[in-house]
Amino acid sequence: FLFFTLSLLCGSTPIEAISKHLDPSPSFPSNFLFGTASSSYQYEGAYLSDGKGISNWDVFSHKPGNIVDGSNGDVAVDQYHRYLEDIDLMEAIGVNSYRFSISWARILPKGRFGKINLAGINYYNRLIDALLLKGIQPFVTLSHFDFPQELEDRYGSWLSSQSQEDFQIFADICFKSFGDRVKYWITFNEPNLEIPFSYRSGIYPPCRCSAPFGNCTDGDSEKEPFLAAHNIILSHAAAVDIYRTKYQSKQGGEIGIVLHIDWFEPFSNSTADQLATKRAQAFTTNWILDPVILGKYPREMEKILGPILPKFSSIDKEKLKRGVDFIGINHYSSYYVRDCSSPACQEHPGTSRTEGLFQRTAERNGVPLGELTPFEWLVVYPQGMKNTLIYLKDRYNNTPMFITENGYGYSYDSNPLEEDYKSDITRINYMSGHLENLAAAIREGADVRGYFAWSLLDNFEWKYGQSVRFGLYHVDYETLKRTPRSSATWYKNFIANHKTQS
Ligand code: NOJ
Repeated sequence: FLFFTLSLLCGSTPIEAISKHLDPSPSFPSNFLFGTASSSYQYEGAYLSDGKGISNWDVFSHKPGNIVDGSNGDVAVDQYHRYLEDIDLMEAIGVNSYRFSISWARILPKGRFGKINLAGINYYNRLIDALLLKGIQPFVTLSHFDFPQELEDRYGSWLSSQSQEDFQIFADICFKSFGDRVKYWITFNEPNLEIPFSYRSGIYPPCRCSAPFGNCTDGDSEKEPFLAAHNIILSHAAAVDIYRTKYQSKQGGEIGIVLHIDWFEPFSNSTADQLATKRAQAFTTNWILDPVILGKYPREMEKILGPILPKFSSIDKEKLKRGVDFIGINHYSSYYVRDCSSPACQEHPGTSRTEGLFQRTAERNGVPLGELTPFEWLVVYPQGMKNTLIYLKDRYNNTPMFITENGYGYSYDSNPLEEDYKSDITRINYMSGHLENLAAAIREGADVRGYFAWSLLDNFEWKYGQSVRFGLYHVDYETLKRTPRSSATWYKNFIANHKTQS
């Protein structure tokens, strides 16, 4: 608490002191969206209420051993019942947008194989109307990892091309029901992260993989990720197609997709490391963005994967031409990338030629690229934000971009209060540094239109359950009471100082 004492002696609060130090008043365009982001399974709870069907994550989280602390999303932060209170918290911070996802199983409990659940439609109507009443734009994701278990049981979800039509039907219902008020649509959240977790390492449902990637007995980690991605890309295209044909001109909204995008810095100037960095970008980000924007898979993937990589038919190619209106970027972390021509050099066992043989590392000659956080994958390197935005601007012809997630997560070590305080200072530094770099990218010509903090509240962090906390508000999981952290006050001040128009 030395920092706290010093700042009191200097006559400013820790928040003011940090803001002064780190915020050289970057500027943002008019109508820039400042928001917070969430997802249905991580927030809503009410997993059996009012006719909702069982989702893949309901099934997965109920199996002992799948979630590190044994928690699940049955109640989560109960936003289903507390959305009005949460909208008040958003209003208190001053955000002008809220990113949330629609639970497919709440709208279609059995996917296409059953009826529409009107209670589910009504819930999202109430949520959307309440947001708009406070001047908060809904920014809506259609698929954020959870979907009706029925689709898994019937045909193996994303491994079947049947999923394309089913996703289109779900999307159509959402556009029809909510599109008069929702002006920003996201088809998928982070398929480039979800797929390897679901079909390569098997740590997300449907937990399919093969040795040496994970401990599964079924699945094929060399092939299935690329098949699942192919069906997701075409499901995305099917949703965009129906939006463009039936709704967009009447409703006047925009549609895009969200990827998890780390920044990759070559480990050295050697040609081998430079090429490995290109392969890393190809096998993570461009894997999905190239097809949905440029209509084809990256060259590096075609070359390495050969017949393993599915092909787009001429009808598929026509659909892909519908493109996207914006790219959503979930950016948290950066890594060095070095060449790795044999699986032996991989820190994570199980890499094979189907991953393009590169190695991610957080440090070079003992010097880390940025501070390492206790949450396993986070390297704090704010310049990564600017580098990512400039890279995407150049590769995708300056397609409009939103930072759909950025934030800092940690778990308690010993004393929750002390940990909470210290980590929140780190969170403020983290957000401030990333926002500064976002503004710098705008100054260099990147068309960035919004920033969403992950997340308003602590919530269910997938396989980490409740053990990792990302909230601007602390949540007591016994009482579900929400308490602002200093980062909530900091974000509020930041928005007030930079919002030009809501
Ligand atoms: C990305 C995911 O979209 C979100 O669900 C997750 O909680 C955050 N990153 C933090 O890991």
